[in-house]
Amino acid sequence: MPERGVGTDAALHRLATVLVEQGIDLSHPMAAAHLQPPPLTVAVAADALASAGNASLDTYDSGPATIAVERWVVDALTSLAGFDDGADGVLTPGGSLSNLTALLLARDAAAARRGVDVRRDGVAALPKPVVFCSELAHFSVHRACATLGLGESAVRAVPVDERHRMRPDALAAMLRDLGEEHTPIAVVATAGTTDFGSVDPLAELTALAREHGAWLHVDAAYGFGTLFSDSLAGRMDGLTHADSVTVDLHKIGWQPAAASVLLVRDRAAFAALDRSVDYLNPADDRAAGYDGLLGRTLQTTRRPDAVKIAATLLAYGRHGLGQFVDTCHRLARHAEARIAAEPRLELVAGAELTTVVFRYLAEDPATRDRVNGELRRRLLHRGTALIGRTSARPAGPADEPVTCLKLTLLNPTATEADIDDLLALVLDAGAACERHSPTVAEAHEEGAA
Ligand SMILES: Cc1ncc(COP(=O)(O)O)c(C=O)c1O
Repeated sequence: MPERGVGTDAALHRLATVLVEQGIDLSHPMAAAHLQPPPLTVAVAADALASAGNASLDTYDSGPATIAVERWVVDALTSLAGFDDGADGVLTPGGSLSNLTALLLARDAAAARRGVDVRRDGVAALPKPVVFCSELAHFSVHRACATLGLGESAVRAVPVDERHRMRPDALAAMLRDLGEEHTPIAVVATAGTTDFGSVDPLAELTALAREHGAWLHVDAAYGFGTLFSDSLAGRMDGLTHADSVTVDLHKIGWQPAAASVLLVRDRAAFAALDRSVDYLNPADDRAAGYDGLLGRTLQTTRRPDAVKIAATLLAYGRHGLGQFVDTCHRLARHAEARIAAEPRLELVAGAELTTVVFRYLAEDPATRDRVNGELRRRLLHRGTALIGRTSARPAGPADEPVTCLKLTLLNPTATEADIDDLLALVLDAGAACERHSPTVAEAHEEGAA
């Protein structure tokens, strides 16, 4: 921190230079690594507007207009999800926090069924809690269980089928084998796994959860946005019956982060988070209709992320956003076809939503993990392309995981020709890495350059 400031123009110029020259340009068609889209201009502008107002959502007098905007956005999204009038929701600082909040509501609902007050007595009073999710569920589910005092060991990973979806038969068996002494807290279904975009069979999992008295949470952080599209909305069939849903519009939704929403089927579930605080929401203010949204979240001060979402929904409508979804899905299908047709690449998982997982087939099979890892870093260091990396089982669930590459296509202004160029860069980088493995010193030098 300088002793004397340089002035606003100079400060902003310095930051803009660093961010533009050294940052990632997500609107560049060669940027295809993560669930991190180029944000829409209208959303960026509305976000600046929201920051300028600096409203907060906890109390009525901290931001009445932004409270109304959040209520409008939540209504629009509960309708899109097919929930009825009893539904509600709240914006959170990200999908991980939406999952955490959902599991908190699920934990407290399970405790109430057992006659345990976990808020007063702590989780030790809750006998052997268990949370089920697929082996491909996002790691935030495990983290949430640790944070909520259930422990990561409460998580039971259910195997997936060859299309990366949770197997209901396996879940049914695990639920059946659970002893009476256990508390089944929740089944977490994923609607759009991070790497594969696969959607668990929501209706079947909901029926199983209900049968065993467990909460059904759908982590639709990635997949929810398909509801904007007429052709892809069917992937979310069954979502309507969930107890809660995580929605990340900073993934499919083209929002600057964070734009996450936790939806609940029954607003009474938020009772677990309700708080009366004299300086924020005294009872007589609430009774008179001067209420904020303090009782729906773990935060107190909360920025109005709904403003940018509202601006986007108004500007583009469902149809406009649906066209973006369809374009990105088509790009992923194109990438899938090109990869399948290229003998030096192996298609590991095709385009369910907007991702494609594949491998560069180095001639020597023993070098393939190394070459795939290196070629991605090579593209990154040279600034020519940004692609994702993960591990997957090319021959199905029984296979050993190997290092894979991933395209996450969320830029609706990219073209099929861009995808061809991107894959050509991957092939060139793969060939270069096969010929020459950089020493650690060379890799550092390249990175510094
Ligand atoms: C399926 C899924 N759930 C949750 C998350 C976590 O979202 P966030 O990064 O907004 O915390 C992600 C992130 O990629 C995700 O893919």
